[in-house]
Amino acid sequence: MPLPPVLARLPLPIIGSPLFIISNPKLVIAQCQAGVVGSMPALNARPASQLDEWLAEITETLAAYDAAHPDAPSAPFAINQIVHRSNDRLEQDMALCAKYKVPIIITSLGARTDVNDAVHGWGGVVMHDIINNAFARKAIEKGADGLIAVAAGAGGHAGTKSPFALIQEIRQWFDGPLALSGSIASGGAVLAAQAMGADFAYIGSAFIATDEARASEAYKQCVVDSNSDDIVYSSLFTGVHGNYLKPSIRAAGLDPDQLPESDPSAMNFGGDAKKAWKDIWGCGQGIGAIDAVVPAAERVARLRREYEAARARLCGLGR
Ligand SMILES: Cc1cc2nc3c(=O)[nH]c(=O)nc-3n(C[C@H](O)[C@H](O)[C@H](O)COP(=O)(O)O)c2cc1C
Repeated sequence: MPLPPVLARLPLPIIGSPLFIISNPKLVIAQCQAGVVGSMPALNARPASQLDEWLAEITETLAAYDAAHPDAPSAPFAINQIVHRSNDRLEQDMALCAKYKVPIIITSLGARTDVNDAVHGWGGVVMHDIINNAFARKAIEKGADGLIAVAAGAGGHAGTKSPFALIQEIRQWFDGPLALSGSIASGGAVLAAQAMGADFAYIGSAFIATDEARASEAYKQCVVDSNSDDIVYSSLFTGVHGNYLKPSIRAAGLDPDQLPESDPSAMNFGGDAKKAWKDIWGCGQGIGAIDAVVPAAERVARLRREYEAARARLCGLGR
């Protein structure tokens, strides 16, 4: 199946994934101008009315950039909607996305036909994130256009499946747009995702260590200084399993290697979640590849160089 036009014209097959608290218009704009899809959760705009201002800023800045760079226009942007019952802003945020005709909506934690229909109504595309094949089938049945396979080692809420298993299973029956997420932080890994059968690499943690990211300097430096040994998988903080930086858990007075399980009914993405995510730093296992805090454009430029070098190396091998 050909990719929807909005996703087919990307200069690099990368989607900068939404990061709770951290993504903001500055990061989204920098990602899009660098040639990758930039995204942010609608819930990062607080109060809710701020989303209107942020969407105006993103659409106007990118339109001006495209007018000045007709030969190399920006990549499209995406807004993430948490489709979970604890999100009492969904309707209001969707109305603003309709007002600005947001090109791509990323839905998480629940698939809903009415949300997908609304996005299609303004000509947008829906990518839904899943951690297993059963959720993937449900999302497509409910009208999502594409899937984001969140494999083991992804930052934030993550699954436990090998990326090979997930992509192989999904590609048995689905030939639409498919992104792979989980520990991708180098251009070679982006090419590997494509070789496996994904169309896009979905990259989050690598963008925490950028100038534009709305994270504390200590958090950014911790991403630079850490590697996969410093990541722990726990459900304690939001009720859903996710990957977190151990140093932030120690700083909160807990032993990251002895964490209790949480009560799933405590799952919450409102104000309490914001408090938890401010102190307990979400992060994927792929950060061993990140060695400095740089502008987002520089991170993308390096991914591009590595991606092209990996392609050339494989072509040189005659593959
Ligand atoms: C700090 C942090 C916050 C995140 N917040 C969200 C979010 O609000 N919504 C969402 O769909 N995914 C969220 N994610 C998951 C990412 O969008 C993505 O799946 C993940 O970062 C990819 O794995 P990687 O970090 O190893 O690149 C978050 C991830 C991190 C690290």
